[in-house]
Amino acid sequence: MSDDDTSPARGTGGADSEEDRARTGGDEERSRSEGRRAVPDGGVALDPWGSATVADYRELFEEFGIEEFEAIIDEVPEPHYLMRRGVIFGHRDYGAVARALANDEPAAALSGFMPTGDPHIGHKLVFDELIYHQGQGADTYGLIADLEAHSARGLTWEEIDEHARDYLLSLLALGFDPEDGELYRQSTNRRLQDLAFELGSNARFAEFESIYGFGGETSVSHMQSVVTQMADILYPQLDEPKPTVIPVGPDQDPHVRFARDIARKTRYFKVTEAFASPEFDAPERVLVRRIYDEREAWADDPETPRCEDAADYLREAEVDAEFETARTGAVEKLENAGMEPLRPRTRFLDRNADEDAFEALIEAVPGEKRAFDAHIDSFELDREEAEELAREVEVDNGGFGFYTPSSIYHRFMTGLTGGKMSSSIEASHISLLDDPEEGYDKVKSATTGGRETAEKQRELGGKADECPVYELYAYLLAGDDDDFAEEVYEECVGGERLCGGCKEQAATLMKEFLAEHQEKREEAEELLAELDIDLDVDGSRRGIPGDEE
Ligand code: TRP
Ligand code: SF4
Repeated sequence: MSDDDTSPARGTGGADSEEDRARTGGDEERSRSEGRRAVPDGGVALDPWGSATVADYRELFEEFGIEEFEAIIDEVPEPHYLMRRGVIFGHRDYGAVARALANDEPAAALSGFMPTGDPHIGHKLVFDELIYHQGQGADTYGLIADLEAHSARGLTWEEIDEHARDYLLSLLALGFDPEDGELYRQSTNRRLQDLAFELGSNARFAEFESIYGFGGETSVSHMQSVVTQMADILYPQLDEPKPTVIPVGPDQDPHVRFARDIARKTRYFKVTEAFASPEFDAPERVLVRRIYDEREAWADDPETPRCEDAADYLREAEVDAEFETARTGAVEKLENAGMEPLRPRTRFLDRNADEDAFEALIEAVPGEKRAFDAHIDSFELDREEAEELAREVEVDNGGFGFYTPSSIYHRFMTGLTGGKMSSSIEASHISLLDDPEEGYDKVKSATTGGRETAEKQRELGGKADECPVYELYAYLLAGDDDDFAEEVYEECVGGERLCGGCKEQAATLMKEFLAEHQEKREEAEELLAELDIDLDVDGSRRGIPGDEE
């Protein structure tokens, strides 16, 4: 069995995180965690159907291998204010999308909405993220997760139809261009359903258990809604593979990890770096690369360093404790390779290719190459060129050629009454459908990060970092105006701003925003009617209440 074979029992991260490990130079810890269960022992829980709070975002980096957005923001051509202000705090592989956008290459963005209630200002974050990517040139998709709402949340089709409309209207009102992408609902998208069925071949029940905690009592419809979400995530690549970003809250990360895993499993070839005929795993490869670079020190002829001499050297070399197992493995493989020269190369491993595709790849590899039973070594292509060629040959031979999907994660908004913002607690959130006056009132009665008295506030300053009203400014009301957001912050913590006036200003801005948004929603009615989305399926469906977990 090759090291890239994932057996279900090993969970999602097992095999393919190998690729990540290689990329990060053997950082095993990080990638192993990509496959870890949704609910670890620590304080964080990532549960797509649970309550969406995250106690400590930093833990997500360590527990699940989500990467810090800050580390990549310089690669983003024109970062959105939610990126600049750290509201978007994490990502997986966003670099691939940022690079494509910067180079005017094809890219896509997609997110989905469960129509379980009114769209509110938390959803607006995701609407804005989609619209931003559309503005940056990405094909952009917004979908209504009606199958999920019915099967996992138990909504009737009638309720779903009504809410679906509201989400789409707000998305359009905020500036989504339906010409430049697609809006759809899961249940009526036949291509999507076909893709979901296809991808289901790569999803094992054991993975449902380990990732989502599904068990004997879980309904099949709920499982079906999961493969449908996998299909959603890969849908933008159906016509042409391209880097794709999924903007979501971190509660959706289990879905993202699973989709990344499934995408990799569909690939015909896997490209790795190799040094001789044996296949080294990622940590072994780190060691062999190092030994190769130090060949002057041990090879009789550094032009033709031999595997068995490398084995002797590696046996005695100093390596970090965490690489001991890798050392044992690498030494054994090098010994077995004997006199074979150690020579870097790019390797194509056959994973799902049929004979025709494999033959086509052999044919397509330029320059010096060697073909074996289940792999091809190229001595001229670098890793990136090889990836590109592998994808091309795959697509030409009937494969999907998926890029592993990327994601970005935003912080959840704090509820106006403190705690989490929740659709089910009226006063905690502002619905995009709230009457502007009602929105005004909700902001006016919000909790703040202010001190007990005005005097203390002047003396100590307010706690903007813990203030839901400040969040409203940063996440929404200040819009693109960083200076304004900063001014509010500085004035607050500097004690120049008092909560009464601050809330009055925020409430007024909220009222204006809602009034304007609702006007635009009305204008968007026409646009929505022209789109080919069936928003009245309830007449043709019988309802059986779903799981409601
Ligand atoms: N599961 C998501 C939610 O609970 C909705 C969703 C369905 C989605 N398909 C998606 C999100 C694809 C992002 C990408 O809100
Ligand atoms: Fe919050 Fe404004 Fe009060 Fe500062 S002044 S604590 S930002 S309401």
